[in-house]
Amino acid sequence: RLPGAEAERGTIVTTPTSARMEEACQDLVLSQAQIQEVFSSLLAQINLGLGRVTNQRATVKCFPTYVKELPNGHERGRFLALDLGGTNFRVLLIELDDGDFKMESRIFAVPHHIMTGSGKDLFDHIAECLSTFAHAQHIEHEVLPLGFTFSFPCSQHGLTEARLAQWTKGFSCSGVEGEDVVKLLEEAIQRRNDVQIKVCAVLNDTTGTLMSCAWKKHDTYVGLIIGTGTNACYVERLENVELWDGSWEEPKQVIVNTEWGAFGSKGELDHVLTEYDREIDQHSINPGRQVFEKMISGMYMGELVRLVLQRLTKKGLLFGGLGSEELAEKGSFYTKYVTEVESDAPGDYTNCRMVLEELGLDNATDEDCENVRYVCELTVLSSDVARAAFLVGTGLAVLLNKMNRPSVTVGVDGSVYRYHPHVHRLMCEQINQLINPGIQFELMLSEDGSGRGAALVAAVASRTNS
Ligand code: GLC
Repeated sequence: RLPGAEAERGTIVTTPTSARMEEACQDLVLSQAQIQEVFSSLLAQINLGLGRVTNQRATVKCFPTYVKELPNGHERGRFLALDLGGTNFRVLLIELDDGDFKMESRIFAVPHHIMTGSGKDLFDHIAECLSTFAHAQHIEHEVLPLGFTFSFPCSQHGLTEARLAQWTKGFSCSGVEGEDVVKLLEEAIQRRNDVQIKVCAVLNDTTGTLMSCAWKKHDTYVGLIIGTGTNACYVERLENVELWDGSWEEPKQVIVNTEWGAFGSKGELDHVLTEYDREIDQHSINPGRQVFEKMISGMYMGELVRLVLQRLTKKGLLFGGLGSEELAEKGSFYTKYVTEVESDAPGDYTNCRMVLEELGLDNATDEDCENVRYVCELTVLSSDVARAAFLVGTGLAVLLNKMNRPSVTVGVDGSVYRYHPHVHRLMCEQINQLINPGIQFELMLSEDGSGRGAALVAAVASRTNS
């Protein structure tokens, strides 16, 4: 078997059908020494991010969120929430009633030309969707408190101000970086002048996820996303947050948005990057940035598998060396294929064949299917999701050890965590390898953190301010 730690732990269930195949996939395996190195350098970057003098050179920025209080389960009220952060934009109307929760929502697409156009067009689009929703719900004359989940790195100086540091995840709208996105939203709404809002809070999806879990489980101190992007936030003691410029009243803690997706942008991950990672990075719209995110999240995972399959085909190790036009096309291997292939029972190739047929590879042999599955597991289990799972697990162990609380629930959301059959188990395995003795943890799927979390942050904010 491969010398990697994951192979020893027996997480790879598929066997490559030849020694050449195994050999060709070697670079996808993470060793224990590499994991240790990732652990130490991520911890170092988080500490640099928290320090006043060192923050500027840190790759993990650790933005204070100004969310200090966690929900107590008794929050009440009607709230609007906006959720922008992936391929879709959502508007939600949420009613919290002492532990109960009702929600109406609508999803709107964010077309590619808007994601990459001007900031004005982006915020006009958001305001238009909000207005359509408010009219359909007959709430256009009410001034409802609103929580805005804006899932990009922002530096905040209060709950209702967030300056975009830089775009991630395929967005590149002009004129937004460095600006306060709450102001841009309010201006767009004023331009239309057909709905009224009162923004009570702007937050990241990780914060929403943490809050949404904390509503039910009061020991939730970490929020994690593994979806289009990856990121984590956690509850930090104020004395460690040197950039803190808010009040020192109790509780002396604040949620810190780590923005760990940016880890690696100064070469800290060079020792684990493969040729596929470098290729994905070079062809991305933000080369050299979000390196950790590109090794983990759903936006890049399918493409990573495709690049591996393509190289193996060129070496004559798959599909009789022939491949297909579809396989050669950038972006053709969707991340959901990875999940589908890995959901087949061992020895069964039903999903795998369906995926290969969609890629014009109708004549795949059983051996090909076994090897495709092996690549998915390696890229996903051992080097992508396992790499992804192991990398995220490593990141979580860093946070859990750093907080050093006896018992922590980690609220998790995002498509990769939600739908992939093995990610949860692999992450837990990795955390257990690295965690300080005596710390108990649980990973809990968060139900709609971005939406409900926005309402909860708004609710907690109005409780504190009233
Ligand atoms: C990207 C964003 C971050 C967000 C994450 C998950 O990393 O920069 O703010 O939390 O994606 O959506």
